[in-house]
Amino acid sequence: MYDLIVIGAGPGGYEAAIHAGRLGRKVALVEQERIGGACLNVGCIPAKAFLRSSRLCRECREADSYGVHVSAVKFDLPMVVERKDRIVAGLADGVAGLLAQANVEVVAGHGRIVARGAVQVDSDRIEAANILIATGSGPAMPPIPGIDSCYVIDSTAAFALTDVPARVAIIGAGFIGLEFATFFSDVGSEVAVFEALPGIAAGWDRDVADRLRKSLQRHGVTFHLSCQVLGIDGGAIRFSDGQGSIRTYEADRILNSTGRVPVVTGLGLQDAGVDFSPGGVRINDRGKTNVPGIWACGDVTGKNMLAHVATREGIVAIDNMFAGPGRIRYDAIPAVIYTHPEAASAGRTEEQLKAAGIAYRKASVPMSVAGRFRIENEGENGFLKLLTGARYGEILGVHALGDMSSEFIVAVSALIETEVPARHAAEIIFPHPTVSEALHEAIRRAADEGES
Ligand code: NAI
Repeated sequence: MYDLIVIGAGPGGYEAAIHAGRLGRKVALVEQERIGGACLNVGCIPAKAFLRSSRLCRECREADSYGVHVSAVKFDLPMVVERKDRIVAGLADGVAGLLAQANVEVVAGHGRIVARGAVQVDSDRIEAANILIATGSGPAMPPIPGIDSCYVIDSTAAFALTDVPARVAIIGAGFIGLEFATFFSDVGSEVAVFEALPGIAAGWDRDVADRLRKSLQRHGVTFHLSCQVLGIDGGAIRFSDGQGSIRTYEADRILNSTGRVPVVTGLGLQDAGVDFSPGGVRINDRGKTNVPGIWACGDVTGKNMLAHVATREGIVAIDNMFAGPGRIRYDAIPAVIYTHPEAASAGRTEEQLKAAGIAYRKASVPMSVAGRFRIENEGENGFLKLLTGARYGEILGVHALGDMSSEFIVAVSALIETEVPARHAAEIIFPHPTVSEALHEAIRRAADEGES
């Protein structure tokens, strides 16, 4: 008998299991594939490893403008895949070590809830007072005729390619589509992106999204917005463009990046009486489902499909099970799109504040106010937008476009979490020279304007 059974060993499940183990609880972690889930094996980590290599490739091409002449650049995809596999294996070993230290028992197999407090793992039945569902998500299959063409790949298959395709079509301009657009264009593919909505990066600050699109276009990516993909025939995409003309694009590979859907089937949820829909398992802000003793975290809830959100939701669920009350602040979550340039964001957007009727002030600065940004980014310009409450000057959101913004966006989450007003945040000393000084400059402007 365990205190807890976690189903799914992604960043939601394994971190929750480790946390519960460290609290002295007896934990079983059930996983049917590899420890680490999609993020470690076929998502965040492989993508960033690929993007590191493609960035080097682009930087070699652009090296002249930094006074370095590089004569021949050859992108070796099999070696890039090998390096990615090595990084993933090293991190997976690290996770296995942490699980062992926390005395978490890893149970290999498919977990299915068969009764309250009981999970069938293949032929074995294990029991616990609590069950945490952390089964994650899988790629969505849009209802496009021909989507099963052998030219169509999802991100998992993209990480196993052996050749760089000359022409790549990407359906969907969200996180995955945009990161792969950067990857493929950096390594020399022709890239065309097909997006149903009028803009890219849905849900992001519109100025950031529009300027990101323009930057990607400058680097050679073509966007077809407000477009409807009518069908796929081999490598040919037939689509109706924003103006209603029917056109065709011939690609060597077509990446389906139209979103991910929670994994809610095959888990016995219906028989257990758990409230769920294809959109996810419903939880409250403590991670509880409607059934006592059954909890959920991460992508399976369909709330906010980011690895670090899954982790926090898992920790919150464990705290509420075994320690004290905990909660997650959904208005302080940082997010990054690892394109070139990077987009980073934390807190609410102008669009969200307007919709909620919250009065705010805005301070925008070019990234080039930070000397380090100019040093690192020849010929690039980005910007950063800070939103503060009109009355108290509390920090509500920051939205940035520019490389390295991923590295300081967490500071914004900290400021939102601790409800520090801009006039106090302005007193924080930022290291010089760093790109983060663009954030400091925006905070100081907001503080000064708030005073006047
Ligand atoms: P997404 O939800 O971010 O974007 C999907 C896009 O596809 C949307 O813009 C949607 O309008 C478009 N779309 C849907 N059906 C379409 C159709 N038939 N034709 C044209 N466009 C269509 O989903 P994505 O990019 O697949 O990513 C999945 C999840 O993975 C995200 O929720 C994200 O949280 C996570 N992720 C996070 C990353 C990060 O944090 N940097 C990186 C990669 C993925």
